Amino acid sequence: MNILILNGSPRPHGNTAALVDVFIDEAQKVGHQISVFQIGNKDIRGCKNCDSCHSTLNGNCVQKDDMQAIYPVMRECEQLVIASPIYYYSLTGQIHCAIERIYAFERLPKLKKRHYFLLRRAVVLHQQFRLIKTQLSDIWVQRI
Ligand SMILES: Cc1cc2nc3c(=O)[nH]c(=O)nc-3n(C[C@H](O)[C@H](O)[C@H](O)COP(=O)(O)O)c2cc1C
Repeated sequence: MNILILNGSPRPHGNTAALVDVFIDEAQKVGHQISVFQIGNKDIRGCKNCDSCHSTLNGNCVQKDDMQAIYPVMRECEQLVIASPIYYYSLTGQIHCAIERIYAFERLPKLKKRHYFLLRRAVVLHQQFRLIKTQLSDIWVQRI
C-alpha cells in the first residue's frame, strides 16, 4: 500500500518523529511504500477559499508553496497518516493548514485507510481527543 505520513511537528527529532519512525519500520517490514513529509516547519498556508481549484484549475491549488510537493503524493496515497503533537488542545497550525488544502481535491481517489497519531505532554482530556477525532472524521467524510 502507498502510505503518506504528514508529521506536523516542527521538531525533526521530536516525539512525533520517533513514533513515525517506529511506524515506518514496521510498515516497511510488511512491504508498504512510505512517503513522509515533515511539515511542521514548511511553508504551507491555509486555504484562501478562492475556489479556483474547483472552478478553473481542475483540482489544483493556486497557492505555490510547499504543499505543491505533497499534492502529487497525496493523489496516489492509499493510506493517509496524520501525526501531530497536541498544541493548545488541538493539532499544530501546520497540520491544520495542510488539512484545509485538501479542499482542492473532490476526494482522494485511492484512499482506503486513514490514521492519526496525536502526541501530548499531559494536559489533554479524553473529551478533547474525542473532539479532535470528530473534527478529523468530519473533514474526511466531507472532502475525501
Ligand atoms: C505551543 C505548544 C502548545 C502545547 N500544548 C499542549 C497541550 O495543550 N496539551 C499537551 O498535553 N501538550 C501540549 N504541548 C506539549 C506537546 O504536545 C508535547 O511536548 C509533544 O510531545 C511535542 O511533540 P514533538 O516532540 O513531536 O514536537 C504543547 C507544546 C507546545 C510547544
